[in-house]
Amino acid sequence: MTTAVLSSASTSGNREMLGLLGRTPLARVTVDLPCPQPGFWAKLEGLGVGGMKARAAVSMLLGAKERGELRPGAPVVESTSGTLGIGLAFAGQALGHPIVLVGDIELEPSMRQLLRTYGIRLELVDRPAAEGGWQAARLARLRELLALLPDAYWPDQYNNPDNTAGYASLAAELATQLDHLDVLVCSVGTGGHSAGIIGPLRRHWPELRLIGVDATGSTIFGQPARSRLMRGLGSSIHPRNVAYDAFDEVHWVGPAEAADACRRMAVGNFVSGGWSSGAAALVAAWAARVHPGAVVATVFPDGPHRYLGSVYDDDFAATHGIDPATAVTRPVEIPHPRAVEATGWARCGAVTDPLDTPGKENP
Ligand SMILES: Cc1ncc(COP(=O)(O)O)c(C=O)c1O
Repeated sequence: MTTAVLSSASTSGNREMLGLLGRTPLARVTVDLPCPQPGFWAKLEGLGVGGMKARAAVSMLLGAKERGELRPGAPVVESTSGTLGIGLAFAGQALGHPIVLVGDIELEPSMRQLLRTYGIRLELVDRPAAEGGWQAARLARLRELLALLPDAYWPDQYNNPDNTAGYASLAAELATQLDHLDVLVCSVGTGGHSAGIIGPLRRHWPELRLIGVDATGSTIFGQPARSRLMRGLGSSIHPRNVAYDAFDEVHWVGPAEAADACRRMAVGNFVSGGWSSGAAALVAAWAARVHPGAVVATVFPDGPHRYLGSVYDDDFAATHGIDPATAVTRPVEIPHPRAVEATGWARCGAVTDPLDTPGKENP
């Protein structure tokens, strides 16, 4: 079966598909999150073909082809918790490359099925690494596959600058859709979309503030690694695509606040998404409240469908001790990422690269 799947992608691809990329709508979100807020804009990337990460996937494969690192028809191998997988399925079909993905057993059955439906060969690791968690376990298996598959190319989304570059189109769309922008709020996983959008948008609006949204228990902005329930945002490694210098502040959000925001939006504003959209929306609503009159925008990386059995499921919430009713209304202020462990919604104006010592202080 593996051989059949790997040989089924057309080696020439179907480049006409690339014309479908992007052009996603911008929605106004005005529902209480959790208290009244003036409203913010949400870029609905879940409504674009192949999802938000199709932009990054196409950019990474095109870049590798141009440099001769990805040979015609060669397989592409990547580690993903799902979103990039869908994007790579699209890019692989458009550019003529079979896709092999390494996920883990926490990947939802519906996402596994969707990836396989798109012709992807999916491998699942069944236990997190002692250091580096699921991501490190997936990367270990990925390295084994690279050794086994001749000519295989690894995009390495955490460190590949073409991931970031793929979001130039998203920035261009926002610059056309909005007359002005004061605050951009982005969830951070690989760091790709925040880094890719902020550069072009600051050339347009030099005073634009960037707020990063991370998950509690994520190491990206210097917090200690803990097991994390939320997927998409957050990481247990230190991705090099994170544009630390570009962030004015960072927030850490826990599952109760993110789920509460998702549910409120679904019921009161129709547009919603998963953990990262909920966390970003919570912080965008807060930013709109604390900066009266400011134009605030955020990105919803995907829609709600993947999360029906988690974010939107009462049994899941009860099993995992999430009570959206306990979601707090404002963040706890912490002076430095290493000063206090954020166990719920927290905010810090000192953004540092945990692999560097000096940081950038913002009042
Ligand atoms: C659902 C979801 N939201 C947010 C992110 C974070 O985006 P980025 O990797 O561009 O930082 C990801 C990344 O995998 C994701 O899958």
